Amino acid sequence: MPSCIICKGNYEPFISFGRMPIANGFLTADEFAHEYFFDLEVGFCPDCYMVQLVSQPEREQMFHADYAYFSSISTRMAEHFKDFAGLVIGSYLGNRNSFVVEIGSNDGIMLRHFSGAGIRHLGVDPSANVVRAAREKGIETICAFFDEDVAEKIKAEYGEADAILAANVMCHIRNLHSVISGIKILLKPDGMLLFEDPYLGDIVERTSYDQIYDEHAYYFSLASVENLFSAHELEVTDAIPQNVHGGSMRFCIAHRGAYDISPAVWSLKKKEQGLGLNTGATFDKFRIDVDRSRDSLLRALNDFRKERKRVVGYGATSKSTTVINYCGITPDMIEYISDTTPTKQDKYSPGMHIPIKPYQRFLERYPDVALLFAWNHAEEIIEKERHFAESGGKWLLYVPDVEVIG
Ligand code: SAH
Ligand code: TYD
Ligand code: ZN
Repeated sequence: MPSCIICKGNYEPFISFGRMPIANGFLTADEFAHEYFFDLEVGFCPDCYMVQLVSQPEREQMFHADYAYFSSISTRMAEHFKDFAGLVIGSYLGNRNSFVVEIGSNDGIMLRHFSGAGIRHLGVDPSANVVRAAREKGIETICAFFDEDVAEKIKAEYGEADAILAANVMCHIRNLHSVISGIKILLKPDGMLLFEDPYLGDIVERTSYDQIYDEHAYYFSLASVENLFSAHELEVTDAIPQNVHGGSMRFCIAHRGAYDISPAVWSLKKKEQGLGLNTGATFDKFRIDVDRSRDSLLRALNDFRKERKRVVGYGATSKSTTVINYCGITPDMIEYISDTTPTKQDKYSPGMHIPIKPYQRFLERYPDVALLFAWNHAEEIIEKERHFAESGGKWLLYVPDVEVIG
């Protein structure tokens, strides 16, 4: 039986997706023979309520000088991080010499607002290519995996931080205790940690099982986050739902006793009890929902194939790697996947090796059906591609349910 990384208790995995490749491991044909696979399995710890991957590839296998995800690709996310930065500047940076640290700062999508305002800042990110992109924008960034040692060094060189920010990265880091010890050391006595990640409640409610892949070591609920941080004398002071990445939660965390606890924390706790995020039975039901979702998606794709419809994927997301490989979606079901990210184009999808093509190809010759892998950006994309639907194109969606819309 695996043991919980957070509290060391034992748990049973509740879902297994079988052998999976690296979700962002888009590759060239000459790399097919050496592609890396691992067992993707998830468990729920009944002692501390943390939902977690049973095993994760080495971090250097996922985050390196050729990391495929550049945050600034999405205009919706750029707006989101502008608002996030504005909130931090308005509410958490009291004095003129304030200092902000961002963990997982990627290409500087959030920190550019601090550097633009002349606020002392430091990004920490281990992927050298995205760090280069941030530095080119004048954003101070160190290329490292944030942990306790890195936090000590930052504190010695820059002093303590008024705010520590982290978006879509805390859930990526397996050695979370070291990260949180580092935060405890680096955060001023009245400082605030604000972090956000895909929220377990949304994953369960929407059956968005494609949030499960190698990079996502944890699937947070308020209950598990409270247990995790309280072991470090830190506490959740607020929890604010975010309408990005298919449903995220922003947690505000401070030294114990430093701030009042928002009523939102109490109401979310109640809501989670209603959703059953603290009981194993919820995840057994989730597994049944996932199988049902896979069967409906395969049925839809097989029907389109019988009708000789041209189907293409829209958005070579890391999430799509789980869907494609778990459902067994082969290159004869999807002609190619359209994506705007230059580093993904003309490569192949991990595992099933569906070609990734520049967005231009989609525009030049619309398919009959677009399978929306970037469903978390549905609003932005469906609006942008109005002409596709007006020309008779159909969207195939699978979250929260499999459906075809015109
Ligand atoms: N914050 C951005 C990027 C999220 S992608 C956004 O929300 O769009 C996750 C990022 O975290 C990657 O750039 C990856 O290189 C970085 N990362 C992974 N492990 C890390 C760690 N231990 N410390 C700091 N950054 C890390
Ligand atoms: P995203 O859903 O943000 O992330 P993840 O990889 O974490 O699942 O990735 C969106 C992908 O979709 C990214 O590769 C860029 C692509 N994309 C487009 O091709 N067109 C678009 O209009 C948008 C918004 C994204
Ligand atoms: Zn545990």
